[in-house]
Amino acid sequence: MSKRDFITTETYTKEEILDIVNISLKIKSTIKNGYYPPLLKNKSLGMIFQQTSTRTRVSFETAMTQLGGHAEYLAPGQIQLGGHETIEDTSTVLSRLLDIVMARVDRHVDVDNLAKHSSIPVLNGMSDYNHPTQELGDLVTMIEYLPAGKKLEDCKVVFVGDATQVCYSLGLITTKMGMHFVQFGPKGFQISEENQAKLAANCEISGGSFTISDDIESIAGADFLYTDVWYGLYDAELSEEERMKIFYPKYQVTPEMMAKAGAETKFMHCLPASRGEEVVDAVIDGANSICFDEAENRLTSIRGLLVYLLDDYARKNPFDLSAQAEAKGDLEAYMASR
Ligand code: CP
Repeated sequence: MSKRDFITTETYTKEEILDIVNISLKIKSTIKNGYYPPLLKNKSLGMIFQQTSTRTRVSFETAMTQLGGHAEYLAPGQIQLGGHETIEDTSTVLSRLLDIVMARVDRHVDVDNLAKHSSIPVLNGMSDYNHPTQELGDLVTMIEYLPAGKKLEDCKVVFVGDATQVCYSLGLITTKMGMHFVQFGPKGFQISEENQAKLAANCEISGGSFTISDDIESIAGADFLYTDVWYGLYDAELSEEERMKIFYPKYQVTPEMMAKAGAETKFMHCLPASRGEEVVDAVIDGANSICFDEAENRLTSIRGLLVYLLDDYARKNPFDLSAQAEAKGDLEAYMASR
């Protein structure tokens, strides 16, 4: 069986990503107009979660329902994944039971291995390395809020704070698109050199650029200013006291920071937010905040991604129509003869 996974946007071209975005926007429009295209009819998605989730889980489940398919939630601790059963065996079995699988994992290697041993498409619903479905939703949102007269390639996107997997993912998608990416964060919490090399590789193809800086001046002229929590779901993260000492007040997104970025700068956040830490209410609830559109676009882009991957799978693995007709006739004859 031939299939394509979605583990990282590094293995997708700019054109392929834009194709997913276009499918997403077209389906969004049909659904807003009351038509739910049954593009995933009879398809089953398995959703493996090693961690909690609101947006990712609900988006995948709602996307499957809206497009005529079904999603099964495989809760933390309720499925063998490298415990009693090897990842290889779990992956082989899920390939026999489902059409597509997504996994939010503690360790990136687990979703990589799941994909390696699966004969159906596997999607990364976030790992300690990256968050590629967040990237797609963020891109859709930036396209919807493109400043008048600008193309994506003209835009500057600033991430404020720690080099979380969301920060790195934002770097990946913006440099893939040829945009100008800045991480404004403290030394010791900046994107690693190894990952910067991947952003540089994107820029070489796309003509984009990136800057890593702890200088507040680096945020000036941002079209989009993005932040994420100063703590997260992964092992090496900091206690509240430690993170406040490092990030507060310099990296807290306040109305003053937004004004420094620009009067038209849009505020983004992957959510969930720790209000009063990385961002204050006046910004997240302010007129320039688009973070709730961004949350809605998790669903928008996940619909498009699921359709893209399952369409790709169907093209690579077409049914033999004569064998299908024969099997149908055989079944109907047997049922009628009972
Ligand atoms: N942004 C995001 O991934 O949210 P959840 O953790 O709620 O899925």
